[in-house]
Amino acid sequence: MEAAEQERLTRVGPGSPMGGLLRRYWFPLTASSRVAAPGSLHALRLLGEDLLLCRDHSGRLGLLEAHCPHRRVALRFGCLDDEGLRCPYHGWKFALDGRCLEMPAEPPDTPLRTRVRLGSYAVQELGGLVWGYLGPEPAPELPHYDLLTKPGVLRDIGWAELPCNWLQIMENSVDPYHTEWLHGHHLSQYGQGPAAYRRRTVQVGFERFRYGIIKRRLLEGGSEQDDGWRVGHPLVFPCTLRVGEGFRQRFQFRVPRDDRSTLHLWYSTYRLPPGMEAPPQPVVPEYEVPWRDADGDLRVDFIDAGDIMAWVSPGAISDRTKEQLASSDRGLVMYRRLLLEQLAAVEAGCDPLGVIRDPDEARNLELPHEIEKLGGGDDFVLRAMGGGHGRFSPLYDTVVNAWQQAV
Ligand code: FES
Ligand SMILES: [Fe+2]
Repeated sequence: MEAAEQERLTRVGPGSPMGGLLRRYWFPLTASSRVAAPGSLHALRLLGEDLLLCRDHSGRLGLLEAHCPHRRVALRFGCLDDEGLRCPYHGWKFALDGRCLEMPAEPPDTPLRTRVRLGSYAVQELGGLVWGYLGPEPAPELPHYDLLTKPGVLRDIGWAELPCNWLQIMENSVDPYHTEWLHGHHLSQYGQGPAAYRRRTVQVGFERFRYGIIKRRLLEGGSEQDDGWRVGHPLVFPCTLRVGEGFRQRFQFRVPRDDRSTLHLWYSTYRLPPGMEAPPQPVVPEYEVPWRDADGDLRVDFIDAGDIMAWVSPGAISDRTKEQLASSDRGLVMYRRLLLEQLAAVEAGCDPLGVIRDPDEARNLELPHEIEKLGGGDDFVLRAMGGGHGRFSPLYDTVVNAWQQAV
């Protein structure tokens, strides 16, 4: 890959071409529980911009520029009431839509007050997550992906802050061969992971659809009627993997903080065995996935730690001018081409792949997904859960105990 193409593919800041494409989509910002209390302020970075997520005293959410337009003080030290946010330094006050309401040290009729605005962006809550949109108005519909609204299941949100560019994480989602090696043979040294991961992959397929790329794989000894080939699972364009098995289905949302760091979210849903009802969850719990060992080095002793090692160890921005692609990389070649194609579509003034303008489409959004992943049943799911990020979930005991009795 030429250096210029690598720049075009990886950089996400304001004004960059890929930043322009990614700004056409909603991104999850954090768990709703982080900003549940009135007066909450939560500083974050998204697509190279410093932002402040807040909830005022009447319960409304705002997504604002992080620094005061007066003299750039961080507004996270400010105070919220039911009208808006007051800067701690000289008391300028802003509504959640960015209008300036007060400039206490200026003459009462100052024209400056109507001229000054704080940047403000679209924000919504769905499925226990807060979502933000930084692109041009009008914002597209927020996709109500099936798992976000699915009734009768338990949910949790795992997270990790990863020091690498978003693209090396996404490329892993169209690389089915790594499962057999990284999660199969390599992980078996640690006595972890289901044996099904070691089955040989004999055929892979990638197919574009309305919301991204469907990935299929055929394992040695299997048939084209197996879920993994017949149904597969999707990369939801541009930055999400939909994956799962049996009673556990999930999204892996990759949220580019900036060119060199990414928030990774594991959004899981768990069905309980027949006859057991999922208790109500007023709050969707969250948990951190620990991916460093006691010495600060990368862990490789559970499924997702292996993935994180593969994402982070090439360096913050993997140098693709030095890579040697092979025939097994054709999924990621397809994904890179799709990114460049959609980036050109945005530059030509069109909506890119998967952007939804029709509210009915956004509210009835089913994604294809295999149930019997790698040919496994419920026992496989339990082993996969214990061998991966699920072991750190606050719901782990509840879900595993329920299914162990049923299996
Ligand atoms: S820096 Fe915010 S009011 Fe002066
Ligand atoms: Fe993986």
